[in-house]
Amino acid sequence: MGAGGSFRPKIIGFLCNWCCYGGADLCGVSRFQYPPYLRVIRVMCSGRVDLKFVLKAFLNGADGVFVGGCHLNDCHYNPEGNYDALIMSKICAKILSRVGINTDRFRLEWVSAGEGIRFAEIMNAFSKRVKELGPLGSSEGLAKEDLTFHLDAALKLVPYIKLVERERLRLPVRSESGVEAFLDSGDLDAIFEQTIGEKLAMSQILSLLHQNPMSTAEIAETLGLNPSDISRHINNSTKHGFVRYDVQQNCYAIA
Ligand code: FES
Repeated sequence: MGAGGSFRPKIIGFLCNWCCYGGADLCGVSRFQYPPYLRVIRVMCSGRVDLKFVLKAFLNGADGVFVGGCHLNDCHYNPEGNYDALIMSKICAKILSRVGINTDRFRLEWVSAGEGIRFAEIMNAFSKRVKELGPLGSSEGLAKEDLTFHLDAALKLVPYIKLVERERLRLPVRSESGVEAFLDSGDLDAIFEQTIGEKLAMSQILSLLHQNPMSTAEIAETLGLNPSDISRHINNSTKHGFVRYDVQQNCYAIA
């Protein structure tokens, strides 16, 4: 099915009970209109939304995922959970981008219980954008099995990602200026590439080789990665005994 037209996107929304859920409720009571694509899951805090929830939502057929929390510094929990949601959203966007999913399909916003009109505006804009993109995978040029393959590889990494998040991606200061300084520092990008990005590539390569033996060039083409990066990962995996070179077939296979 193409973008727009009669396509009715499935959008999963994780809404914080204390703010955004109230905003959505006020939106309904006030009869502000937005397209009926949103399926709401109420959570106690946006910080409760695990990266796994977002990836599983896409894996289970969501075309878009929305997370709504209290405005920064208004979170009802200490330490403020919405700062965790913010870091999760940045990591999530990077992972989606790495696995070939348009990052416009994921959105994090702050909405207070008194902002019914703001909730409607956000949902109108987000629904419109997801509808333009069409069913998950269509605008990305990814078949369902490719999507499943990439999302599965990312899901397997979630425990490791949480470890990296806790040890290396903690915000030094939980304030708006602290977030800005952290994001501007480039630390997130660098740490992501050195840790999560590397592991994600490895996870994808091993998953591919579990299906079929492949050459470096075939792996690079399938994953859209640089052949020299693939060679580096393959060499490491061969050293650790995960992968072996199949001389007869002139390709790599799971050891
Ligand atoms: Fe709403 Fe934490 S309680 S984001």
